[in-house]
Amino acid sequence: MTTIKEHCCGADVFFDEKTAEKQYSQYLKKGPGRVTARMIDQLSTIQVHNRSLLDIGGGIGALQWWFLREGGKETKAVDASSDYLNKAKAHASKNGWADRTSFIFGDFAEIYMELEQSDIVTLDKVVCCYPDYQQILNAVCHQSMELISISYPMDGILSRIVASVGVISARWKTKSFRPYIHPVNKMREVFEEKGFSRVAHSLTFPWHVETYRRK
Ligand SMILES: C[S@@+](CC[C@H](N)C(=O)[O-])C[C@H]1O[C@@H](n2cnc3c(N)ncnc32)[C@H](O)[C@@H]1O
Repeated sequence: MTTIKEHCCGADVFFDEKTAEKQYSQYLKKGPGRVTARMIDQLSTIQVHNRSLLDIGGGIGALQWWFLREGGKETKAVDASSDYLNKAKAHASKNGWADRTSFIFGDFAEIYMELEQSDIVTLDKVVCCYPDYQQILNAVCHQSMELISISYPMDGILSRIVASVGVISARWKTKSFRPYIHPVNKMREVFEEKGFSRVAHSLTFPWHVETYRRK
């Protein structure tokens, strides 16, 4: 069985320079993808001025660029892919945001205690890349002072079939990385137990998009 450490090394191989370049040029042409756009819709109801954002597994950084353009104070990206981080860092410099952004390479669930808390924490299509949903969601709740916005796949049979295909195709690139479908109700329980209540939910098949607020 793959350990969590091996899994995160696998993410660094799976989300490589070619994937980062492809996603970045798609972003430049079309803007945020539909799931990310839904997260932005949910977060657009709040005032971002003077607030900080932690974007876990933020990839090329679409959520961060939205937040900074809207006047957010600062962003922090933690990612297990060095190629995604390099792409995001270059974009921040190009847009004059170097002093309002930081980029940290690593497994968020391992390093979160070293970080300052942020007002808003986002994780867009990330929990499905992580073997232990409880571990990463507990860390997410610890780091958020106010809001959490998350997207993750539905847990029905169809998602499991799609994930099985994902497991096979991921093997072409690395044996240490695979997608996971976690139990939706159990994930929601983690937020409740940690003192967050759900304030927005939508479905962009096959993704749940939800925002939670600290009670
Ligand atoms: C499917 S991609 C999503 C990227 C971006 N959020 C988006 O929606 O385009 C998953 C991202 O999560 C990152 N990731 C997976 N596990 C992680 C972990 N434990 N800590 C930090 N980043 C992680 C991967 O490196 C990758 O950037």
